[in-house]
Amino acid sequence: MTHTDHAHGDPMTDFSRESWEAKYREREALWSGQPNAPLVDEVENLAPASALEVGCGEGADAVWLATQGWTVTGVDLSATALARAQVHAEASGVAAHVVFTDEDVEAVIRRDGPWELVVSMYTHPSQGGRWLVSTLADAVAPGGRLLVVGHHPTDPHATEHPDLARSAFAAEDVADVLDRSAWEVSASIHERVTLGDGGHERLWRDAVLVARRH
Ligand SMILES: C[S@@+](CC[C@H](N)C(=O)[O-])C[C@H]1O[C@@H](n2cnc3c(N)ncnc32)[C@H](O)[C@@H]1O
Repeated sequence: MTHTDHAHGDPMTDFSRESWEAKYREREALWSGQPNAPLVDEVENLAPASALEVGCGEGADAVWLATQGWTVTGVDLSATALARAQVHAEASGVAAHVVFTDEDVEAVIRRDGPWELVVSMYTHPSQGGRWLVSTLADAVAPGGRLLVVGHHPTDPHATEHPDLARSAFAAEDVADVLDRSAWEVSASIHERVTLGDGGHERLWRDAVLVARRH
């Protein structure tokens, strides 16, 4: 999420399908179209296989994965975001390698899983981070990997927007839903600096959970 949205003070109190759809419809593009740095860092050296991305939004990460050779299923609540994702995939020449759907993620996992890589970047679902991790864990094939990235409670999204603080999480807190005898878990904070208006540096702090299924 190289973002335009929360960083500019737009309140975000409702994480329902209707609310996300309305947010996407308000703007021509909500996100930058570039893949998220923590995804690129974690995945660029892996051998491509099948991947599920939940909360794929306008598809920048799913399209980037497809350009790296992955076969991708992208799930999101917003039909408008997914239509943009489809256009992005076609423009990038990878439409044959990505499927986008607004179906319920649990139904998609039951029907089409498992995948070698399961990714969620800043999804912050209304059900919470622990629900997200335990739901996505069921979608990971043996030997596969789970990557869940969100705003850390010390990130400006959470400290400057109390409405977002509820959905922020520390990776170790959501990781404890994983059975450590079945998973090798790494929970960390990923820091990045961007230049804001007027050239001021801003420090962002992401919660990064990487888990490998034995
Ligand atoms: C902050 S945006 C991030 C979009 C994208 N991952 C990115 O980094 O640019 C969160 C996205 O998660 C989606 N989302 C939230 N809850 C979801 C759920 N339960 N199932 C599928 N998508 C969900 C929203 O529709 C929205 O597009």
